[in-house]
Amino acid sequence: MEKEKISEIKDSVNIVDVIGESVALTKAGRNFLGLCPFHGEKTPSFNVVEDKQFYHCFGCGRSGDVFKFIEDYRGVTFMDAVRIVAERSGLALEIEEGPSQQARRSHPHQGLYDIHQEAAKFYHAILMTTTMGEEARSYLHQRGLTDEVIQHFHLGLAPREGNYLYQSMQQKFSEQTMMDSGLFNLAEDNLVYDAFQDRIVFPLTNDQGQVIAFSGRIWRQNQQEQKLAKYKNSRSTAIFNKSYELYHLDKAKASIKKNHEVYLMEGFMDVIAAYRAGIENAVASMGTALTREHVSHLSKYSKRLILSYDGDRAGQAATAKALEELQDLSIEIVQIPNQMDPDEFIAKNSAEDLQNLLTKTRISNVEFLIGYLKPENIENLQAQIEFVESLAPIIAGVQSITAQNSYIYMLAELLPDFDYQQVEQAVNNSRLSSRQAGETTYSSSLAPAPLPHDLPLAKHLSRLHKAENHLLSRMISHPMILNDYRLREDFTFDTAELQVLFEILKENGEVTPQDLSQQSEAVQQAWYLVLEEDLPEEVATEELAEVEATRDKELLRKDNQLISKNVREASHKGDHDAAIQEIERLIAQKRRME
Ligand code: GTP
Ligand code: MN
Repeated sequence: MEKEKISEIKDSVNIVDVIGESVALTKAGRNFLGLCPFHGEKTPSFNVVEDKQFYHCFGCGRSGDVFKFIEDYRGVTFMDAVRIVAERSGLALEIEEGPSQQARRSHPHQGLYDIHQEAAKFYHAILMTTTMGEEARSYLHQRGLTDEVIQHFHLGLAPREGNYLYQSMQQKFSEQTMMDSGLFNLAEDNLVYDAFQDRIVFPLTNDQGQVIAFSGRIWRQNQQEQKLAKYKNSRSTAIFNKSYELYHLDKAKASIKKNHEVYLMEGFMDVIAAYRAGIENAVASMGTALTREHVSHLSKYSKRLILSYDGDRAGQAATAKALEELQDLSIEIVQIPNQMDPDEFIAKNSAEDLQNLLTKTRISNVEFLIGYLKPENIENLQAQIEFVESLAPIIAGVQSITAQNSYIYMLAELLPDFDYQQVEQAVNNSRLSSRQAGETTYSSSLAPAPLPHDLPLAKHLSRLHKAENHLLSRMISHPMILNDYRLREDFTFDTAELQVLFEILKENGEVTPQDLSQQSEAVQQAWYLVLEEDLPEEVATEELAEVEATRDKELLRKDNQLISKNVREASHKGDHDAAIQEIERLIAQKRRME
């Protein structure tokens, strides 16, 4: 899509109206004010600036234009945000299809997607409208699922026997598509049977929400007695790779993006329990252990993961194993009490209790491992030593010293024969030996979860950055000024993000929303900070000279700090010649500053 079109779409709406649909805004001076939807707060610090058509939160530092708001609030891509705004303004029909949509339409496996969509509708109709469905629905009601929940997860029912699905798909799909779908089996008598029979079916979707497979659960007493497998999944097909896909990820996406984190659970029913407790950012693997593919798939959406596996031994072992796969993510763990899974917990307690458990009782991976690795025979000295030795490298790898101290304290409390100093000694030893071995510390993932890294610290801008914001702001609003700087070949911004923006400006004369969407989060945030400069229309005489003087002074100061550091380091190493050289440079600079 051309940039003119995108600008036209952006101009077709008022950001105050768009945000106003999701956030209650009140007029405050020239701006609108509300509670920030991106972080929890009780006093409003979320500003929408009407004349510049962007928003900024003074609490968490997030800012952006109308597209950015929709991207973050709904968890969609930039182009989807553009489409949403276009549709709202009735401009949708004029947009030509993007390559991704065209590709989708002529996708080689389109038939497989279509048959799964039809099958999901078929199963759902059986559950919702037939007598047999009524029975299955009352099983689900007994398990605490309301019709609303059944609808949300689009659950269905596979008929008891025969090939009803096959018959109903026969008119619409080719024999080849039906055989490739994994939804039917060929019996010895050459008759075709439905693969799922007499099971409650859970549609499995890809990230885009297209149905790609099913999982079916038994639900009658006699099926249990026959020892049928509790769940049965579609076989692998061209569109279903169960080592990659995650249950409910399509619907969880938006909430993952909004909350910057995702819950990983063992079962479909656990994800449904989380939804009933108001938690939409939960997913599950398809009954297989967590694979590397799952991990890289998930990390596209979030770097913070909350493991909420079953509270039984198997679940805890799976948690320990998953921690090994999850080295690059930051992890917290929720332990479900009394060996329950989240679904059993909500049944025994309440939705509110599950919500509290999942949001308020998380522990760090180190705390989990302390509990998990704790020996049964804690009185035994050898067992204590082994326990300390297995945990020491993990604690040594934790970034925060305060956290390290409290883990050391925790261990010392647990162990009858160790005091604080002894555990600390073990941790220090393991840090030293891993450094000598040239290893990086055991695992950065075992460090406590960092804050989302994309929040800029708008309040802590240096004087240098402020001066450069001022300059860039003038270049944006005054093409003549931009041109002057364009011609000054030796001029560069010291702030890396501003230099990136300056390069775009030099090249194109403007920074379009599309240009911006291709930049890193840091560059995007830097851009909005520049837009926030509230300068008078008119450029004062000497204004730029003064800002440049401030900038030069700050650059010199920064350089001085660097030289001083060099001096300290050189004299520390006993290299006096180098130290003296640096001091001379420093003196020369100080003179220039006066
Ligand atoms: P409910 O009993 O319905 O509450 O399910 P659950 O989530 O408690 O089941 P469980 O903890 O036993 O299993 C977790 C996940 O493993 C399920 O959601 C399935 O994806 C998978 N699973 C369980 N049993 C089977 C099975 O017999 N065959 C296959 N293929 N997968 C299974
Ligand atoms: Mn369960």
